[in-house]
Amino acid sequence: MTEPVYATYDSCSIEIPRPFLLVIFGASGDLSRKKLFPALYRLDRDGLLPPNFCILGTARTAVDQSAFRELIRGSVETSFGKDFDTRAWETFAARLYYHEGAYDSPESYTGMKGRIQDLEKTHDTRGNRIFYLAVPPTVYEVVVSNLGSSGLSREEGAFTHIAIEKPVGSDLASALKLNTVLRASFVERQIYRMDHYLAKETVQNILMFRFANAIFEPLWNRRYIDHVQITVSESIGIENRAGYYEKAGILRDMFQNHIFQLLSLTAMEPPSVFESERVRDEKAKVFRSIRPFSLDSLQDSLVLGQYGEGVVNGERAAAYRDEPGISPDSTTPTYAAMKLYIDNWRWNGVPFYLRSGKRLAKKKAEISIHYRSVPHLMFSRAMQEDIEPNTLIIRIQPDEGIDITFQAKNPGTKICLSPVVMDFSYKRAFSLSDYERILLDCMQGDQMLFVRDDGVEQTWSLLTPVLEHIASGAFPLSFPNYASGSEGPRESADLLVRDGRAWRPL
Ligand code: BG6
Repeated sequence: MTEPVYATYDSCSIEIPRPFLLVIFGASGDLSRKKLFPALYRLDRDGLLPPNFCILGTARTAVDQSAFRELIRGSVETSFGKDFDTRAWETFAARLYYHEGAYDSPESYTGMKGRIQDLEKTHDTRGNRIFYLAVPPTVYEVVVSNLGSSGLSREEGAFTHIAIEKPVGSDLASALKLNTVLRASFVERQIYRMDHYLAKETVQNILMFRFANAIFEPLWNRRYIDHVQITVSESIGIENRAGYYEKAGILRDMFQNHIFQLLSLTAMEPPSVFESERVRDEKAKVFRSIRPFSLDSLQDSLVLGQYGEGVVNGERAAAYRDEPGISPDSTTPTYAAMKLYIDNWRWNGVPFYLRSGKRLAKKKAEISIHYRSVPHLMFSRAMQEDIEPNTLIIRIQPDEGIDITFQAKNPGTKICLSPVVMDFSYKRAFSLSDYERILLDCMQGDQMLFVRDDGVEQTWSLLTPVLEHIASGAFPLSFPNYASGSEGPRESADLLVRDGRAWRPL
């Protein structure tokens, strides 16, 4: 094996992947045009791809090679605006090919195989292959099975990886089935299940922050922490994804994946080494320790919402039920807040409050750690008010950074304390976008930022009974129950008020 080659990029050393051929299924679709190709173009432009690589886009659309290159050029140009570099594009485009084919036709895979073998010779990609499924989840199984039966999934002295986007299944049974189909053609080491939240710089920073500093981890447990809040709020609605969203809803779209991933990084034990299997082992232990929801009293730990009309960022926004493609009596939730417990030594008795929703007042993702009050208030005689407990806030987006609030004396003779904030702000654009990071890791064979089969299955095990309970009609829903542009349903606030706590304002 040849020695790895590194590039210095934005003061970090980045390993250049080995030569590879990337096949993108769904190459003319939205995800490919808006995310994948712009990310690949930029990686190439910035010298982070090896000289020997090529990309074979495949889809059902009948376009010839030059029309395909033009289509992709249009999207990349739109993404980069005035930063679009024509010379860099031409170098990139010379490695871009197209194969038209039906996802369920074995002949199409035979044709693709011949095409791959030719391109491997032209670009000397040494047999390393990546298959990226940017297609609707309904065709995952058929593509995976055909890759298996055509022999394309096999590794012969080189690597073959398969990358799939979320959602991995829509409940436990479908996730188990998809994982079984995947494992019939690939081994787990070859499978890259994406969760773009894991590739956000600030999300990766959670582990660095916790485990590379001596001062936080000793306090990161039930003795010192009163509760934890995880918020991912969005001001956008469902945009033009009605077909998908009506079936998914907020629990499948955000909780099973992004929110539970944030939870696992916040709650996990330190792994013995910072290596993908060890990190994923620790995350799996967190999922296994989450106390299953009690369906008899689900209302004490779950609040669902759906947005009505309102005003977001100064503009009128329609109710979910009035969005194009949505049923006028839809009961799909666009908001959820939940309270859960992790039954282990570290977190026993500490509630985790999680919330996410569309069409809320602001776009914001953060994790806030709320510490217990000081054990004895020696200032109580001199002060009239309670002292606010400390909070530590990990700001995931926007305005990425970390805040710590603590008490300080107000200048003057009187004893008067007020909370002050120590604020670390990245205040800069990050060098690699989430998709650039994820693609690079998949090329390099680093599975740390990808979700393992057991992680997917455990999170679905927790949510599936809840989803079935809701679908059975046993969970009362009265929608719409929050105005677009608001902080969410009133019942969501009650979830914490009942415990003598409050959400941090959005
Ligand atoms: C996606 C969800 O996974 O994440 C979307 O399907 C959501 O509904 C998006 O809008 C949020 O991602 P980000 O990176 O904009 O916070």
